[in-house]
Order: sequence, then C-alpha cells, then structure tokens
Amino acid sequence: MKKLVITGGRKLRGTVGISGAKNAALPLMAATILTEGCTTFFHVPELRDIKTISQLLQKFGAEVNGESTVTVDSSAIDAYEAPYALVKTMRASILVLGPLLARLGKARVSLPGGCAIGSRPVDQHLKALKSMGVTISLEGGYILAECTRLRGARIYFDISTVTGTENIMMAATMASGTTVLENAAKEPEVEELAAVLNRMGARIDGAGTDVISIEGVTTLRPVEHTIMPDRIEAGTYMIAAGITEGDITLSDCNPHHLHALIEKLEEIGLAIIIHEGSIRVRGTGQIRGTDVKTLPYPGFPTDMQAQIMALLCLAEGTSIISESIFEDRFMHVGELKRMGANIRLEGNSAIVNGVDRLCAAPVMATDLRASASLVLAALVARGETEISRIYHLERGYERVEDKLAQLGAAIHTVPE
Ligand code: EPZ
Repeated sequence: MKKLVITGGRKLRGTVGISGAKNAALPLMAATILTEGCTTFFHVPELRDIKTISQLLQKFGAEVNGESTVTVDSSAIDAYEAPYALVKTMRASILVLGPLLARLGKARVSLPGGCAIGSRPVDQHLKALKSMGVTISLEGGYILAECTRLRGARIYFDISTVTGTENIMMAATMASGTTVLENAAKEPEVEELAAVLNRMGARIDGAGTDVISIEGVTTLRPVEHTIMPDRIEAGTYMIAAGITEGDITLSDCNPHHLHALIEKLEEIGLAIIIHEGSIRVRGTGQIRGTDVKTLPYPGFPTDMQAQIMALLCLAEGTSIISESIFEDRFMHVGELKRMGANIRLEGNSAIVNGVDRLCAAPVMATDLRASASLVLAALVARGETEISRIYHLERGYERVEDKLAQLGAAIHTVPE
C-alpha cells in the first residue's frame, strides 16, 4: 500500500482536465449486458472501480478491452454470478443485477455488505424487482434472483436511490409492458444512462424527473458513447482552489451539473467564473462560515460533503453541515480534528467552528470522499501531512497526484 505525502502552503494555479464520471461509467458498463455486440466508451476514467466492473463483465463471458477507450463485446454473456470477492470491493456491483435478469432471467449477486458511510441496504432494488415478477431469495450472503420474463410494473421508491433507479430502469428496458418509476433519482448520471439506453433502442421517458416510464422492447443494440465529465471530481478541484487561495481553471467539465455547489462556494467567498464547458475558481482569502445540508440532486451532493467540510474548517464563524443521505458519513471528522479542526458531531450534523490554521499530521483515509477531504486539508495545513490507505482515493480520482502536482502542489507517494 502507498501513502500520500503533501506539504501544505502552496497556492494551486493552472488548468486541470476533468475526467469521465465514475458514477456514469459504472451503470453504462453494466448496461452492455443488455445487448449482444461491441459497445465502445470514450473518456472512461482509469480507476480501480472501472477495473472491478470490467472483471465482473468478463466473469459473465464478455470481452472487455482498453482503458480510457473501453470496448465491451457482450455477445457471449452466459454466466450470471457476481462473486463476493469482487462485490465487496465495490458496492456498485449491484448494478449488474437488473441487466442480468433482463438478459438471462437469472442472477446470483453477492450482497454488497456495509461500507464506511453506512449500512447501504438494497431493499429498494429487491422490492422493485419482486414487483416485476422476480423470485428472490437470500442464501449465504448472496441474492439469488430468477424470472421467466420481467414484467412491467408501477414502482414507488420509498427513498430516492441512484443505483436503485438505474438498476430498475435497465431491467425495465426489456420487460414485457411498461414500467413506471416514482420518486426516481434525478442525478445527471441517471439522465445520461437513460439517454444512452434510448440510443440503444430503449423507450424511456422522464429521466431527470422523479417519474420515469420505460416501455419494454425486445432487443437493444450496441452503441458508442463518450462518458460525461465527473461533477464530483470537478467540485473537489474547485474547493482545492478556494482552500489554497489559488486560481484553477477546470476544463472539460459541465457547470450545469454543479449549480448547488457553485452557489454555496460563492456564498463562502470564492470567485467563480463560468464559461461553456469550463469553470475558473479563485480563492479570495475570504472563507465565510455557512450551513450546508446534503440532499438528492439537484440539492447539495452528499459526495461533496466531506470536501466542503475541509474548506469550512478554516472559515470565519461557525458552520453546520447536515448529512441527510447517509447515516454515517462523518468518518473524515476524526482525521480533520487530528489536523487541528474544531468540529463537534450532533446526530447527523457536524458543527464546524472555523480555526486560523490546520497543522500537518499523519491521517488515514476511510472512504473515497473522506480521503479527498484529507487531501484538501493537507494542501493548506502547515507542514508535511501523510495520508495512508490512499487506495480509497484512487477509486474515484484519476491521476490525482499528477493533476495536483501540475497545479503546483508539493505531493508525492511513499510505500506504506
Ligand atoms: C450512489 O450510491 C453513488 N454511487 C454514491 O457515490 C452517492 O453517494 C449516492 O448515490 C448518493 O448520491 C454510484 O452511483 C456508483 P443511494 P447509491 O442508493 O446508489 C438508502 C461515491 O462517492 N437506500 O442513492 O448506493 C441508502 O442507504 C459514491 O462516488 C436504501 O435505504 O446510493 C442511502 O441512505 C458513494 N435502500 C440513500 O438511500 C436501497 O435499496 C441513498 O442511497 C437503496 C438505498
């Protein structure tokens, strides 16, 4: 394993290219199960999670080649088991369940298990599939699912679930009849998936709203597609500019996916200039405390909560950050406190009293976005910070060390 070593105090300046979105690429890769033939994806981020879903597809019998440009030949898919060894490393593996049932009528997928940010159940996925005629049993930590043919149903999600919406939307593309999803997730990644499925021949209406209808078809054809930019990676670099009082231009990004974050960062005091496809962010030396509440899209994204907390640790005044999506997404708080942050947890809220400075300390990454917040804190902390278990970071940030070094950060890795 490796550690990241960052010496704080450098103002980050320059341009950074935003990679393809992990959370768009994962469902799109799963969607190749629905078609026979060769699908090509461009601008795929080279991340551990992409390797994991590629391994899963290969286990099912697909041929997967390439890294930034990925081709998936799914003609020979005939197996349907997603083993615990792979699923435990990536919860999003659950996204193969719906497509396998649509393609083969059978699936044996390991239950993902919990993770550092909460129990993360999949009950909504299973409830929806049962209403589509799937028989489901749980055996030895695996979901055994079987159906003759998926049938359309009207489904109400008790809670807005991104991969739940994606999983069922994919299953419904080849069900008999029409499926209506109510209280569906509206994330841009859901819209992207629906747009690509429609290009494959699906009949999906309403993606991006909370009611999505899918009229089942019999076949879907392979396509080529360029993955949308990663809005969470973009938001993370925006905060890097603010926290280091730097000046960073983000290219290849989509500002329309970042309205809630942009509003909040301007409220805090960052200077943000938006162009078509790019955003320029400058730290002004002013970081004003404010309140943040994470919500389903288009609200403030939970995947940016840890990162904005790092920024607010240095704010004037007190900030209250409420996490409404996951029950335990404050693992970064203890580590930020080791760096001198003044944070108190009360239920699902963190009370952050701004301090004048953060100080370097050896810290440990616990999950993907927590590790991003530690990197942001280290960029401004006085001294040399060592961050261990950075494999968490590498799951969601492509070439993060190179990109930060190009912006002027003093960063390198050492063996742990
Ligand atoms: C997706 O996870 C993202 N992952 C997460 O990003 C993101 O944090 C999350 O959506 C929320 O935006 C991918 O897209 C691969 P949910 P997902 O189902 O779909 C509860 C990252 O950092 N719930 O929308 O797993 C759940 O416990 C990752 O890139 C149920 O109760 O999240 C949570 O409290 C982390 N039952 C809430 O809903 C279910 O069946 C939202 O979860 C499903 C979810």
